[in-house]
Amino acid sequence: MSQARAQRIVVMTGVTAGLGVHAVQHIAARPDTRVIVGARETGRTLPRGVEAIPLELGSLASVREFADAVMRRLGDARIDILVLNAGMQTANNERRSADGYELTFAVNHLGHYLLARLLAPHMAEHGRLVITTSEMHDPAVTPLAPKSLDLQALARPSKSGFGSGIRAYAASKLCNLLTAQSFVALDDVKARQIDVIAFTPGLTGGTSLGRDSSRFMRVFVTFLMRTVFRLIGLFRPEYVMGTAERSGEALAEVSLGVVTPPPGRIYISLVKGEPVFPDPSELARSRDARDRVWRESAAMVGIE
Ligand SMILES: NC(=O)c1ccc[n+]([C@@H]2O[C@H](COP(=O)([O-])OP(=O)(O)OC[C@H]3O[C@@H](n4cnc5c(N)ncnc54)[C@H](OP(=O)(O)O)[C@@H]3O)[C@@H](O)[C@H]2O)c1
Repeated sequence: MSQARAQRIVVMTGVTAGLGVHAVQHIAARPDTRVIVGARETGRTLPRGVEAIPLELGSLASVREFADAVMRRLGDARIDILVLNAGMQTANNERRSADGYELTFAVNHLGHYLLARLLAPHMAEHGRLVITTSEMHDPAVTPLAPKSLDLQALARPSKSGFGSGIRAYAASKLCNLLTAQSFVALDDVKARQIDVIAFTPGLTGGTSLGRDSSRFMRVFVTFLMRTVFRLIGLFRPEYVMGTAERSGEALAEVSLGVVTPPPGRIYISLVKGEPVFPDPSELARSRDARDRVWRESAAMVGIE
């Protein structure tokens, strides 16, 4: 008599555009894999069998509803792989979330922070939590990256202006990394041997990340990528632009455990299509910054 084969359960965000489209295709193509995704419009085209539940990361109520719906659907089953990939970048820091926080900070960090806090207790032993960050968090890569961290100012900025959108994005990606650092340090996560990974796909073309920027900014960035970045890429490989297909495939490899960082490391960066394991920025390794992000984010989302 044949026994039912164990099913691997994957929950993902950010699969309706950009590199996530390719990642979910690779993951959903694996046998015995059930994939549940959070998406803003559930009518989007997704690989066959993938289940979509509404999720607007810019609303903490929506994040809670999504987490509740996932848990209702799964019953006693546990999540093997949780992939938090959704992200956005805007022209400036003037837009606000449903809860009144700066939108980039709210979507990229706070919404995912709350989602991870709600779903982590429902993850399986030896599970994997993957958070998509960016090398933009690192001042060694971009001068716009944060050199200090003030969560209250990120959540409710008093100053705007040119470059404030990119600065908000870079800071939100630092918060993603520090959130991953906090999860690794949790006794419960260690006891259940859950792997935690902060993954950056590196500069990736063909995605819609900058779609909310002004037309001028989009033209300017395209110009930079085709000219200056190509030149810089000759001696700084992290400036070489990859494709959404390869970045998505790499996210799938990281999520499925095909690629794993060396023991004691959590940061994976895709450079010229290959995973490498550099140190994140000094601030991303700060325990004080890590603990402040954990504590202050908890207060902002209204949990312990
Ligand atoms: N592209 C790069 O060069 C690059 C470099 C480093 C890191 N990253 C990171 O890679 C990840 C994917 O980026 P991408 O370049 O593929 O961007 P993208 O093409 O814009 O895709 C972003 C995804 O996030 C979803 N999303 C955005 N805002 C959301 C919200 N409020 N609620 C729920 N879902 C939301 C989008 O859903 P909709 O389809 O509904 O918009 C889409 O599925 C992001 O975390 C980004 O920060 C990208």
